[in-house]
Amino acid sequence: MNAVPEGFLEGRGTYYEPFFGAGAVGIELIRRGGLKFAKRMRINDINPDLINLYRTLGSSDGSFKLFLATYEEHIVTHLKKKQCGAHCHGEERKKCPRNTHFNSVRKHEPPLNSPERAAWFLFLNRTCFNGLYRVNKSGGFNVPYGHLVKPKFFTTDELLAYGEIFSSVKAITLGDFTDVTRKAKSGDFVYFDPPYFAVSETSNHTAYHQDGFGEEQQARLAAEISRLIDVGTFVLASNSDTDATTKLYKTTALMPNKVAVRRSISANADSRIEVLEYLGSSYPITPLGQQQLDL
Ligand SMILES: C[S@@+](CC[C@H](N)C(=O)[O-])C[C@H]1O[C@@H](n2cnc3c(N)ncnc32)[C@H](O)[C@@H]1O
Repeated sequence: MNAVPEGFLEGRGTYYEPFFGAGAVGIELIRRGGLKFAKRMRINDINPDLINLYRTLGSSDGSFKLFLATYEEHIVTHLKKKQCGAHCHGEERKKCPRNTHFNSVRKHEPPLNSPERAAWFLFLNRTCFNGLYRVNKSGGFNVPYGHLVKPKFFTTDELLAYGEIFSSVKAITLGDFTDVTRKAKSGDFVYFDPPYFAVSETSNHTAYHQDGFGEEQQARLAAEISRLIDVGTFVLASNSDTDATTKLYKTTALMPNKVAVRRSISANADSRIEVLEYLGSSYPITPLGQQQLDL
């Protein structure tokens, strides 16, 4: 299924991704449309560490070099520590030298908006449990060590390639989604991938930011979607496949689709299951039904 509005990739409209996160869709669109497409992209997120990382990667001053040196230093020190091994449990795991190193890095927060902070954040993201991002009430990163046998660190070449992308995008902003989508005009395209409605009481993963993303925020998002559709903007929105999603998005002019996507369910990237997700679009993509997501 092609979920991009027909002809958009080759056109001139601006692409907005206001809940950018790791940017799986935006990065895929750049893979297809090249850096020329990146120049038409406005990306945004409310997470200051994520935005600092992208801005650092795309910086043209010495920040990138300082970031790279700090990131590599974290990795080298980490890998020199003894691995506790996948078989270790309980107290043994707590004493794992790599766990101790992770905790000491996590505790020493560099100043906000610095290249050192970007390196700190990326190192923690690569070594923490399931690559999660979660903060406590005062905004401190509190995900524990992931005990990964082989953490996937980015290579210098990969980081340079990301640098090229982030130095090309039209705008990288930090803020609430509406701060950026209010700029969208007729013919532009906005893809919303917000924190999802909880599938169950225990699966509430909305603590990306200390303010959370509850029902009120979901309703605010639906209102913004309606406003954008009225303006003539192409809108695509994903969410969990729940009754609450269907009920709320029925208040918008989005056409509902269900797509099967693969999700990891544990720290082990191989244990993936296929789940259905909601994908609403303001333009026709495919007949309603179960589809493979192929943006
Ligand atoms: C489901 S994730 C997006 C995943 C992303 N599409 C990817 O490929 O990784 C949701 C993102 O929304 C961000 N977020 C949460 N509340 C927000 C808000 N009010 N405005 C903008 N971004 C927000 C979170 O920081 C998180 O990065």
